[in-house]
Amino acid sequence: MELFWKNAVGILFILFLMVNLVHVCPRKCVGCQNKTGTRGCDKEGWPLIDADANEVDLSSINFSSCPPDLSTNVNLEKVNLSRNLLKSVNYTCFHKDAVLNVLDLSYNLLTKLPNFTSGAEVQILNLTGNQIVELNPLYLYGLSKVRQLILDDNGLDSFSGNELLQDTDMLEILSLRNNKITTFAVNGTSRLLINAVNLKELYLSNNMLLDRNTPWLLGALNSKFWTSVEPIVQ
Ligand SMILES: *[C@@H]1O[C@H](CO)[C@@H](O)[C@H](O)[C@H]1NC(C)=O
Ligand SMILES: *[C@@H]1O[C@H](CO)[C@@H](O)[C@H](O)[C@H]1NC(C)=O
Ligand SMILES: *[C@@H]1O[C@H](CO)[C@@H](O)[C@H](O)[C@H]1NC(C)=O
Ligand SMILES: *[C@@H]1O[C@H](CO)[C@@H](O)[C@H](O)[C@H]1NC(C)=O
Ligand SMILES: *[C@@H]1O[C@H](CO)[C@@H](O)[C@H](O)[C@H]1NC(C)=O
Ligand SMILES: *[C@@H]1O[C@H](CO)[C@@H](O)[C@H](O)[C@H]1NC(C)=O
Ligand SMILES: *[C@@H]1O[C@H](CO)[C@@H](O)[C@H](O)[C@H]1NC(C)=O
Repeated sequence: MELFWKNAVGILFILFLMVNLVHVCPRKCVGCQNKTGTRGCDKEGWPLIDADANEVDLSSINFSSCPPDLSTNVNLEKVNLSRNLLKSVNYTCFHKDAVLNVLDLSYNLLTKLPNFTSGAEVQILNLTGNQIVELNPLYLYGLSKVRQLILDDNGLDSFSGNELLQDTDMLEILSLRNNKITTFAVNGTSRLLINAVNLKELYLSNNMLLDRNTPWLLGALNSKFWTSVEPIVQ
């Protein structure tokens, strides 16, 4: 009988070890290894971000929510969250004092632009390959410093509000390729780009634009500020 209990305790101990080993490296760990700015991942599969990292690569790890370490690191300037499963992102994802310059959110499942506080100061924002179908002025909250806004491959078809890019006077590059845009006008007029005085590049290929010949668009395309305009391919 005593032998039985010794064996039972031994077996339980081995089982306990096995369960722990499984926890130390869950399947999610795979993607955290050898990435810029990380030291592997914790037991839950979240990446451990270096406290002094300015740049972190968190691409292709299949996150469906923001990794917790992101919100504790104040030094981050460039964050790559490309190819994950994020459905929404807002300022709670990042440290409130972090000065994010480059944010790559391409190929996620976002249905809205990320909503930031003005402190985020994102300058380069890549949202290619998400599911943002409508641009609404509210969604541009906190993106007043954006210089490059890339919204290719989103199924975008509507713009609600003429003052859409009102506060984005720093905008230099706007890319809207491969969407379903038919018009920029709201109720017959468009002031969409009126404050985008620094806009130098506009990419509109593979849309369904009906107003390609309207004066405002032609005027914008011929503007002396522009250095590069892609031919509008239907
Ligand atoms: C992410 O999901 C895709 C599709 O299910 C899979 O092929 C890939 O291996 C996953 N990546 C990681 C790091 O788990
Ligand atoms: C990480 O890099 C080290 C050294 O370059 C290598 O030995 C190891 O296999 C890599 N791990 C993964 C998961 O790619
Ligand atoms: C983010 O990572 C993807 C692939 O892992 C890469 O193609 C892309 O260039 C990176 N983005 C930035 C801004 O470096
Ligand atoms: C921010 O995003 C998180 C996670 O997606 C969500 O739970 C929270 O409600 C959002 N906060 C605001 C103010 O939108
Ligand atoms: C997103 O756009 C940025 C800025 O143009 C670029 O550096 C990055 O590589 C792009 N990401 C992907 C996945 O192409
Ligand atoms: C973004 O956040 C601001 C401030 O918290 C709020 O007023 C605005 O309604 C939000 N926009 C969206 C689309 O949630
Ligand atoms: C467009 O017109 C409709 C109907 O008159 C009105 O309700 C809506 O607010 C207008 N939209 C804008 C952005 O002016």
